Order: sequence, then structure tokens, then C-alpha cells
Amino acid sequence: MKILFIGSRLYDDIDWYVKEKGIESVLTESNEEAINLDLPDQVFIVPRGMDGPKQVALMQKVDAIVPLIGIDPPLIDVAHMKEEVERDFRIPVIAADVRAVELTSNKINTKEFYTEIGVTTPEYQILNSPDELTLDFPVVLKQGEGQGGKDIKIAKSIEDVEEYFNQFSQALCEEFIEGSEISIEVLGYGGEYVALPPIYKGETTIEGTHPLNKVKTGPCMVEGLDNNLVQHTAYKVAKNLDSDGIFEMDFMYSKQKDQLYAIEVNTRPNGTRYLTTATCGINSLCELVNMAIGEFSLADISDRLEYHYSTEIPVGNYGGPSPKEPVKSFAYNDFVVHGPEGYQRVTARANSKKDLENLVEKLM
Ligand SMILES: Nc1ncnc2c1ncn2[C@@H]1O[C@H](COP(=O)(O)OP(=O)(O)O)[C@@H](O)[C@H]1O
Ligand SMILES: [Mg+2]
Repeated sequence: MKILFIGSRLYDDIDWYVKEKGIESVLTESNEEAINLDLPDQVFIVPRGMDGPKQVALMQKVDAIVPLIGIDPPLIDVAHMKEEVERDFRIPVIAADVRAVELTSNKINTKEFYTEIGVTTPEYQILNSPDELTLDFPVVLKQGEGQGGKDIKIAKSIEDVEEYFNQFSQALCEEFIEGSEISIEVLGYGGEYVALPPIYKGETTIEGTHPLNKVKTGPCMVEGLDNNLVQHTAYKVAKNLDSDGIFEMDFMYSKQKDQLYAIEVNTRPNGTRYLTTATCGINSLCELVNMAIGEFSLADISDRLEYHYSTEIPVGNYGGPSPKEPVKSFAYNDFVVHGPEGYQRVTARANSKKDLENLVEKLM
């Protein structure tokens, strides 16, 4: 088995698994200064875009292509490449197709899609000027595209909305949901989908603090919220997206209204994955590899499901005890350190809440 991986930045997360599986690894990267270029068997530096990876895949006669791209902008090019390469060369590309990317990479399209398939999403309107606003304050103003909280503002007054329009000419304006933020990963391949355990990412704040900067825990334990409902809703969204790979979804739960709201979908490796792996033992990036080698199976995932308490803490720069090799694997560690210097996070797991507290104390 020979796999082409596109993008080196996340490759250290799965290098150990690729080696364990005896897979021959080829990697393309557009930045020759990028990290992890020493890990794969072969590396090709190619221009940005999907033409280079496609040529390398054909020249190297790989069995499958696994894009490891953690940001939104390239996903549409990947999706077009997937459709072409699967159709013309019969090489599987483990990624979302064009329709799924178009529906999920733009938050406005995603809202319309939720409404079409009968999934509740916060009330919204598309504003072309502040005076069109009819929702009650506070409201959340967003752009169609963006991640990590980029271009998001919580407006408490019409002045805030006017200020936002100094910078933008249109806004997706959403009812502010007071409640819990929840993320969940769904894995899909060949028409089969599995929703992994949901993760709790903290409460929404009127300042709009992004979950990237909060302490998160798994499994999700929110009073009044049934995790089966989250998993079932996520499954329904993924099934209707009808594509391959990872679907990470954000939800919010308002206890006051006893309502689960769907917020957004990311069809790529995402920040929830460490907590998912810590909590249930399933690693979404390893599953992309399994999809590529024909070993992805729902029965197998059910057999491997584990039950742990886990937490993820932003630490900036980690200075605690060293993890064992391979350092990115929960198969060998009860904690994993990840993220770039200055923005590192530690994800830790244990079999009871008390053990988890003790472990965190040891690591901090
Ligand atoms: N309707 C809302 N009500 C309350 N908080 C929100 C709402 N929408 C977004 N937020 C806050 O902003 C964050 C980022 O919003 P999101 O739509 O997930 O965009 P991004 O792609 O930047 O993650 C959310 O995680 C949440 O903290
Ligand atoms: Mg989000």
C-alpha cells in the first residue's frame, strides 16, 4: 500500500500509525520550510494548488490520496481534484466532494442546508445594512467564510452593528444563544457514517470567547442534554452531506429553551480530534488512513470504542513531563501535547474524574 498525503503540517499526528501499518508514504508540500518533512518515505515540494499532488499521485502510482489540510480555503480545490482523480484514474481521495464543501465552507449555505433537512439552527437574517435588523439584541455577526472566530462580533446595540458595517458590507446575523458549546466528529466513507462521542467546549459568552481559548472536556456532560440527540442529529447532517472523510460539527444547547442548535460543519481535520481520541480511542486522522486502505468499518470502530474522562487545556508552552514515543498517540500515552509553540494545548485522559484531576496536576 502506497498513500499520498497532501500537506505536512499535521503529518506528525499520524506518522506513527502509517509506519505501524507498513504503508509506504509519499507526501507533497508547497512550503519547503514546513515541519515534518523528515518523516515520510518520500517528499515532493510542489506549487500551491492540487495540480502538483495529482501529478505526483499518478507518477508514484499511489493506491489512495489522503489530504491532511486543516484550513478551509484549499478544500474546494481538493474536492474538485477528488472528483477528477476518482473518475478518471480510480484513485480514492479521502475528502469531502464539491457539494459537501460548498454547503459547509460558507456559513450562509450551511444555515440554508440545515433548514432544508429539518435541523434546528439559531434564527438568522442576512443583513445588507444595519437598519434591516429585526432580531433582538444581542446578535452574532459573522461572515460566510472564516474559522477560529475570525470576523465574528457579538453586537449588543445598533452602534455595534454599525461599527461592524464599517468593515463589511454584508453580515450573517444570528440570534445569540446562551448555553453550552458542543462539538462532535462524524466519520463517513462509502455511504456509512459513525458519530463519535460529543465533546463539551464551555459556555457561550457575550464577549464571544472562542472555544480555542477554553478548557474542554469529554465526554460531553451537559445537564438536560441527551448525547444521543447530538449524535443522531450529527449523523443526519453527515448523511445528508453524503460524502467522505471527517465531518466536525459545532452545536449549542440552550438549557432554558431545551433546544439543540446546529452552528457549523467543518469537512477537514479539526481541533476536536484530540479530545475525541482521548475520550473514545478513535482517532479521526488514523481513520482517514483506514478509509484509504479499505479497513474502515463501523463494526470495527464499535469494537474499539473506549470510555475515558478527558480534558484539554490551553497551556501556551508546555513544560511538564515528556510523553512516551510515539508522542502523538493515546495508544501509548495518557496525554498528548499539540499545537504550535506559544499556543500549545495538553489533552489528557483517565478512567475516573479523580484520576484525571491528579494527572492534570502532575502535568501542569
Ligand atoms: N449564535 C451564537 N450564539 C452565541 N455564541 C456564538 C454564536 N455563534 C457563534 N458564537 C461564538 O463564536 C464562536 C465561533 O463561531 P463559529 O460560527 O463556530 O465560527 P468559527 O468558524 O470561527 O469557529 C462560537 O464557537 C461561539 O463561541
Ligand atoms: Mg466554530
